[in-house]
Amino acid sequence: MITPQTIEQIKSRIDIIDIISDYVKLKKRGSNYLGLCPFHNEKTPSFTVSPSKELYKCFGCGKSGNAITFLMDHDKLSYVESLKWLAARYNIEIEETETSPEQKILAQTADSLYIINNYAKDFFENTLWNNDEGKEIALSYLKERGFRDETIKKFQLGYNPTEKNLLTQSLITHQFNKELLLKTGLTVVRNNDELVDNYRGRIIFPIHHNTGKIIGFGARIIGKNDKAPKYINTPENEIYVKSKILYGLYFARSPIDKAKECLLVEGYTDVISLHQAGIENVVASGGTSLTTEQIRLIKKYTNNLTIIYDGDNAGVKAALRGLDMALEEGLNVKLVLIPDNEDPDSYVNKVGTTAFKDFVANNKKDFIIFQLGILLKDAGNDINQKNNVVNNIAETLSKINRTEDFTKLQEYIKQCASLLKIDEGGLTTLVNKYKRDSIAKEEKKLYSVGDFQTQEFPQQPTTNYTDSDTLLLHQDEAIEKNILKVLFEHGYKSWNNEQSIALYVINELSPYKFHNPLLAKIYAAFIQELNEGKQPDAKTFLYHTDEAIRNMIISITASPYELSPKWDEKLQGLNITNRDNSIQDAFMSVTFFKLRKIKKMFEENQQQLEIATTPEQQLQLMKDHLLFKEEESKITKALGTVILK
Ligand code: UTP
Ligand code: MN
Repeated sequence: MITPQTIEQIKSRIDIIDIISDYVKLKKRGSNYLGLCPFHNEKTPSFTVSPSKELYKCFGCGKSGNAITFLMDHDKLSYVESLKWLAARYNIEIEETETSPEQKILAQTADSLYIINNYAKDFFENTLWNNDEGKEIALSYLKERGFRDETIKKFQLGYNPTEKNLLTQSLITHQFNKELLLKTGLTVVRNNDELVDNYRGRIIFPIHHNTGKIIGFGARIIGKNDKAPKYINTPENEIYVKSKILYGLYFARSPIDKAKECLLVEGYTDVISLHQAGIENVVASGGTSLTTEQIRLIKKYTNNLTIIYDGDNAGVKAALRGLDMALEEGLNVKLVLIPDNEDPDSYVNKVGTTAFKDFVANNKKDFIIFQLGILLKDAGNDINQKNNVVNNIAETLSKINRTEDFTKLQEYIKQCASLLKIDEGGLTTLVNKYKRDSIAKEEKKLYSVGDFQTQEFPQQPTTNYTDSDTLLLHQDEAIEKNILKVLFEHGYKSWNNEQSIALYVINELSPYKFHNPLLAKIYAAFIQELNEGKQPDAKTFLYHTDEAIRNMIISITASPYELSPKWDEKLQGLNITNRDNSIQDAFMSVTFFKLRKIKKMFEENQQQLEIATTPEQQLQLMKDHLLFKEEESKITKALGTVILK
């Protein structure tokens, strides 16, 4: 790891204008710089760089970040690689920290596995191209399937000979340790202690990490054999974690970025054939349902996912299982089914690139509507089953992130209600119920007993928030981001004669907790820096070693306050004004934060009351309820009556 001191040195030297000017012609506009965005095609400049904030943002495509993320995004460097690049540019010598013994062992094992895999990859490739058996059996098979030389080379395909241990022998002669060989899955133990090759007689598909290194292999049998599995894959180890792998992502990253769409297929050969046909924004899941980690990987590059599967039911059903998760993560999911028992590989070979692209473009089905179609068909005329379908689809719809995608949700409700032949209003109510249920569940998990006495009372609704307030009040993250934004932007201005805005905010928030763990961490770090007599702001955390923190800081700094659109009206009723809005921003953010937390306490109290068994418990909960009520009315009084009713 690079030491914090070195990172500090690099940070202090970074000149974002200087760095981005290497890539983009920038012109000064007021306090900012403007140029043509390097991340999308445009004729009029909308790419803005702010030297004071040390950030860039494109108002065309929305990309934003700091000097480091620019290098990561534009040159596809890793965080550490970007730091090293900057260090070299500014002639800063890099110091690395000592790591713990466990970390050292882990890193050493990972390094060794990479070295062995790389050796094996060369061995397999060499066998495929130069060895008689390789050429006659494997290379001819690949060519028969239509793979061209340059494609086979690009994907570094290879072949493991049928003889029992040619690779293993060679690895042992090179002094690789037996435990490690077994870990890679390249070698297995047979008849007690004989070491043999695991992928004998199989075509090898190396699986690449984002750096291009080989993390594992898929090994396909040649021809058909009912007794042996079609593919053998690398077992889980320090570098091969199946749930985090998308085959082909190494080659597809840039194309996905450009196409603003990621195509998802099932198999290795689908990825390779589509690539060969010039369709490069494609990755494979390995035929299982998508994992959250895979969805997050895709989301790094695009929000548009198009699943291209063959028409058979098993694959599609597997894909359907990942759907709710994909929706929660805010992906737009479309589905294309390949006809006539073909898969993307065979279909593109049959019809060619243009026809394939046209087919995909013209046959994209909306995933939710598609799912509804299947469910309805299965339900037939059975009333009970139809009821289940309605509930099912309402639950799916409740996963759509409604603040980001409010119109999208409305549109879905309309379409689904019409397909189900039910009332739109009724479906909306049901969707809202599922949303509330899942929020309550989440909160229950987070605010379990002992954490904070958080409760509510029967008579609902306790408060008449407007619709937009209610929406915002479900968004812990937005509300908590507002707080940090205030601290970063206005923290050191004065709240009144006695204290700064930062101190006002921190005092007001002291009885409450942050819900989002990342924001909680940043908030705690902010307070700590403050206690150490420093004046932390966004830049303090902008180059943090934790990628999640860096991204969060960028998102906080680059986005406007996420407040209720009705706030403006409400504020007119209040006598809080100052020239630069800092006091309003602080007041509004703190108030919304508190209302949110109190609302949660009400909800929690309500749930506990439902399960409370003794009169003493009930009495205590009701007392708590009154306390919260009092707190709420204090806040709303401070705000004037404007917010309520
Ligand atoms: P397919 O059976 O569709 O294979 O499995 P494929 O990739 O299209 O291969 P070809 O075209 O018949 O040669 C899809 C994916 O499921 C995983 C592999 O990742 C495969 O690419 N799979 C399949 C396994 O892991 N093990 C198996 O035994 C079969
Ligand atoms: Mn296939």
